Amino acid sequence: MSPTPDTAANDDAPRLAPELLYLLERLPRERWDTQAAHGTAGVWRAMHESLRHGQHQLQTLGQRWLDKDLDWVGFRRLALPLLDAHLGHLHGHHRLEDQHYFPAMRRAEPRLAAGFDLLARDHETIDAAVRQLHGLRHELTHVNPAEAAAWGCAHALVREASVCGTLLLRHLADEEDLVIPLLALREGGQHAA
Ligand SMILES: [Fe+2]
Ligand SMILES: [Fe+2]
Repeated sequence: MSPTPDTAANDDAPRLAPELLYLLERLPRERWDTQAAHGTAGVWRAMHESLRHGQHQLQTLGQRWLDKDLDWVGFRRLALPLLDAHLGHLHGHHRLEDQHYFPAMRRAEPRLAAGFDLLARDHETIDAAVRQLHGLRHELTHVNPAEAAAWGCAHALVREASVCGTLLLRHLADEEDLVIPLLALREGGQHAA
């Protein structure tokens, strides 16, 4: 299935309509370090930074493989724990959002419904990329390093990690534009709506 326009990895156009950004206008990013540094907003931002870090580590390893800075065995030795940590972290974070935080935020800010619909579609798209990576992780574990398939598996893994990264980074940024002002304004005692 081809991705919908708002989830296409190569589309840099803004995806959140201006009418969804009324909270961001009240609390723009340049004020987050002082006004969204604590409470759930602060934890949320730290969680996203941790996801960005995990993704960066994975893609840095991928670049080392492409640069031939590692042999295949070395790539596998480093890739498996990175994949396990990052994919597990990502999956757990999305489930918590889908099952707990986003339903509560939809109730709190009904005007943001279209934004949360977009985030939910992102989760499905990213989950599909994560499933691909899980499959390649399994293949990487069991493939015979002496066979050509081992090299193909490593290349496919690096390629899929990059696809996942493009989707993930855009998702995190859009999600923050909706969620961080909502949390920080409410926790600061100001009604978001
Ligand atoms: Fe998310
Ligand atoms: Fe998130």
